[in-house]
Amino acid sequence: MPAARLAIVTGKGGVGKTTVAASLARAAAQEGRRVLVVEIATPGRMASVLGVDSLAAEPVEVHPNLHAVALDEARALEQLVDGLLPLRFLSRQLLSSETFRIVAAAVPGILEIALLAQVVDWMHSTRFGGRGFDLVVLDAPASGHSVPLLSSPRTLSGLAAMGPLGETVKRISRCLTDPRRTMAFVVAIPEEWAVAEAIELMSSLRDDLDVPVARPVLNAAFPRRFSKTDEKLLDEAERSGTIDPELLVAGRYFLRRRKAAQKQAKALKKGTGLGAVELPFIFSPTMAWEDLDPVAEALRAGLAS
Ligand SMILES: Nc1ncnc2c1ncn2[C@@H]1O[C@H](COP(=O)(O)OP(=O)(O)OP(=O)(O)O)[C@@H](O)[C@H]1O
Ligand SMILES: [Mg+2]
Repeated sequence: MPAARLAIVTGKGGVGKTTVAASLARAAAQEGRRVLVVEIATPGRMASVLGVDSLAAEPVEVHPNLHAVALDEARALEQLVDGLLPLRFLSRQLLSSETFRIVAAAVPGILEIALLAQVVDWMHSTRFGGRGFDLVVLDAPASGHSVPLLSSPRTLSGLAAMGPLGETVKRISRCLTDPRRTMAFVVAIPEEWAVAEAIELMSSLRDDLDVPVARPVLNAAFPRRFSKTDEKLLDEAERSGTIDPELLVAGRYFLRRRKAAQKQAKALKKGTGLGAVELPFIFSPTMAWEDLDPVAEALRAGLAS
């Protein structure tokens, strides 16, 4: 049973990581692949984006071909320690609610390793519906927390070079740096601050941590609606006063947002050396699961090219 592939979706807070992770999962599931979506930040928006009430601590099928799970820190740490200590009752004692935080604080990186160990375990698991998953999509925390998460194998490697923990750390490290298995997707929106952070994050992941990265993702980009001629017509209509002022404001706004998307796509390319995959802004007040289709489609097309 080959292990699933892992897609790690990260980027600055609020840029659409959860939306992009869900859309990636939707695109893959529609193609008939078996997908698991993992949410780390709980309680996050993933359940609502997937159109379900809540996520459980074990993978549950929420749509055809699509399982979802909320990764629980305490549970992940318990499983890790269970696998390391020969006697189960010892790990229970070690991880009682009072001591859990102490253990996590005492060994920097242990909590992150526990989370990643759980993800890698699901990548190999055939427990959910008989077959294994083809793709595991990780809705990772915002940049500031993703770097410590993904660098935890390095943080711990000095401390735990040997023994079962060392083996786990090595296994995770091999997976995260293998381009046949892992790909990180760094998300930005067409704003300078988000793009600057994405460029820095791509460099940290690729150059410092050896994590393979996909083309940067420019989310919520306004599409091109107006041609140069349309722009001129708008100017003329404004001069002659033959346009509804509200329509004029809307038209100008649309043009401005489109230009920002173009400018930031260029900046991403200059900063990372990779052309951005542009994902459309979704004009939906409710943002239902089906509304992700244009984003899923753009991801499919962008990643294939
Ligand atoms: N392509 C898009 N078009 C329109 N709105 C979007 C798009 N992508 C995301 N949004 C909206 O932006 C907001 C933030 O999206 P999301 O929760 O996916 O971001 P996030 O990066 O996961 O945030 P956090 O850092 O809090 O986890 C939500 O209201 C979402 O509906
Ligand atoms: Mg999120």
